[in-house]
Amino acid sequence: MTDLDAREAFALDIALRAGRLALTMRNDLAPADAKSAIDFCTEADLAVERLIRGEVEERFGDSFIGEEFGGEPGDAVWVVDPIDGTTGYIHGTPRWCVSIGFVVRGVIEIGVLYAPATDRLFTARRERGAHLNGRPIKVSGLRHGAVPVIEAGWSERSSLDTYFELIRRLNAARIEFRRIGSGALGLAEVACGLADGYAELHINAWDAMAGLLLVSEAGGVVNDFLANDGLRKGNSLMACTPELATSLTAILDTLTHPT
Ligand code: IPD
Ligand code: CA
Repeated sequence: MTDLDAREAFALDIALRAGRLALTMRNDLAPADAKSAIDFCTEADLAVERLIRGEVEERFGDSFIGEEFGGEPGDAVWVVDPIDGTTGYIHGTPRWCVSIGFVVRGVIEIGVLYAPATDRLFTARRERGAHLNGRPIKVSGLRHGAVPVIEAGWSERSSLDTYFELIRRLNAARIEFRRIGSGALGLAEVACGLADGYAELHINAWDAMAGLLLVSEAGGVVNDFLANDGLRKGNSLMACTPELATSLTAILDTLTHPT
């Protein structure tokens, strides 16, 4: 039996410590390695992943998949992005976070996400709700009464033409969009009602695991991200307040499964 309570307590503690480590390292940042023209890895990404990976290994011995050092899924697996939103981190914006998910036999059980620059700790446990700094959160329900706003993420894993087509379709459906550069934080902001949805043609599991649980525990709708080996290969991502689910699913489906 996997002790979820112990892992949840650990995830909360390590997310805070990892986030503070990244924040401290931000003060004295060495030039980043470029993985591509828009994808970077700093010393902090590596140090934070080493910290979390090392403690998981020592305390639980579970499997581990991380953005910087990879890994393979097992029955119980931690799925971690040490810094999601690395470009924003490098540029000194507050839009980055540590994202930690824990998955047991294809079910996300724990999601913890810490944004140190704004001191926001998002936590979710399956069937126990989602919280921001200890307070329950829920999706917007479009209660603002204004135009819906979603985050439309993009990376070079998808073609720009297809991304522009996604934006065009959102515009035709009268859905406002933005791209602020952290998929994990984008999902957390859907969970607490600061955005109405999130869509991306392809995103990796470490960006999405914690946020997917946050959104579903906050009353939102998410796609079946783990289908088709999503844990290893990543997948398209749709997460939103229930009122947008039908239109967002239709918009994304035609682009990810063209006929
Ligand atoms: C990226 C960000 C971005 C998302 C990309 C991710 P990184 O991760 O989450 O918002 O659109 O798909 O790769 O490079 O900041 O760790
Ligand atoms: Ca990432």
